[in-house]
Amino acid sequence: MSFAVPQAYVELSDLATARGVPPSKYIDGLGTHQMAVAGPAEDPVTLAASAAQRLFATSGRSPSEIGLCIVGTETAVDHSKPIASYLHGLLGLPRACRVFETKHACFGGTAGLFNAIDWLAAGSARGRSALIVCTDIARYPIGSPGEPTQGGGAVAMLLSERPRLVELSPGKSGCYAQDVHDFWRPLHRKDALVDGHFSVQCYLDALSGAYEDWRRIAGDEAKRPLVRTCYHVPYGKMARKAHQRRCQLDGLDEATTEARFHTDVAPSLRLPAQVGNIYTGSLYLSLISLLHAEAAALANQHIGLFSYGSGCAAEFFTGRVTEEAAALISAMDVAAPLRTRTRLSIPEYEALRRGDADQDRRPVDKSPEASQLLREQASPHYCGIDPQERRVYAWQ
Ligand code: HMG
Repeated sequence: MSFAVPQAYVELSDLATARGVPPSKYIDGLGTHQMAVAGPAEDPVTLAASAAQRLFATSGRSPSEIGLCIVGTETAVDHSKPIASYLHGLLGLPRACRVFETKHACFGGTAGLFNAIDWLAAGSARGRSALIVCTDIARYPIGSPGEPTQGGGAVAMLLSERPRLVELSPGKSGCYAQDVHDFWRPLHRKDALVDGHFSVQCYLDALSGAYEDWRRIAGDEAKRPLVRTCYHVPYGKMARKAHQRRCQLDGLDEATTEARFHTDVAPSLRLPAQVGNIYTGSLYLSLISLLHAEAAALANQHIGLFSYGSGCAAEFFTGRVTEEAAALISAMDVAAPLRTRTRLSIPEYEALRRGDADQDRRPVDKSPEASQLLREQASPHYCGIDPQERRVYAWQ
């Protein structure tokens, strides 16, 4: 696993001051400290390519081993051409490769993950691996209650028959779905509309439904302790509420629930608190955060995973942390993408957001200065569109 984030971020204490609310509302009330903000040269394709590039570089695996590439996203860059095709080109994946995009709000990446598990279980892999990339930019209207829960980033994962970090259990996943209007993004908008408090209720109902279904399906396995749980994290407080709901279903009292949150969930919230909601990748960023903090202590232990996508669909499933995980994670320099970021002032952030609408129509700048600038970029770059309105990317 590996992740990528935009080069810029906003401190939520700065945003709170600008919006006239106490910083504690965002930091303690929502449980988030910073939100990632994408610039004009960044989009879900560049984030996906950066995450996958790091994944290959840090795992020692090669793009030539990939037989299936699925991109989960709710920030598509085209109504037809999938991000997976751009990724196929940028990474140089093999021609004999199944490539497509999945959408179901934040659940889209998990839909891709389970598709890959079935591909492996069916014997279609023939020794190859699946590349699953979750990539999104979370945007809400400026000044809306959703604004402090924005973010952006991508998580790339390799799935194979010989897992090196976490071993998932095929066929043992609890599901829940319901037709609700908790969060939506009409085709003409770049930012999402949301019925915020209702969405929290929908998330918790979906958690109860998926967890109960998992307990029914898993049988005796459900009696084995899950020492940690990673949740979908639109903001940290949501994961806390989710854990409270699960502890209630398990019949635990309030004091035990509170203690359990600090051991079972808090370590998985450290990276998400510095990035914000990354939609499809959110659950998997929380898993990276957990492994980064505790992989050695968790060797051979089972953990819970909960994926939620508005609209809505959810699954509760489990995994076993491998013995190799700690060595692999420590060789990866997991948090490196967060070290080189630039802090934006609120006027800088608002100017970027105001420019979002134009990015899909921006012609490629062919000036010598722009070309020189591109030659100096080490990471994938969105350049604009060509005269046929095709998106153009550069990557040295
Ligand atoms: P709001 O209504 O402005 O906030 O927005 P609030 O008044 O509910 O306050 C939030 C919390 O801060 C409350 O705690 C307050 O008490 C506390 P809670 O009661 O929830 O425990 N608070 C303070 N704490 C400390 N010091 C203070 C202070 N003031 C208040 N001074 C809302 C909150 C979540 C509605 C908003 O941010 C929103 O609409 N966010 C976007 C939607 C969202 O993230 N929903 C989550 C579930 S749906 C989901 O996860 C799917 C999603 O990822 C999309 C997808 O699937 O694609 C979003």
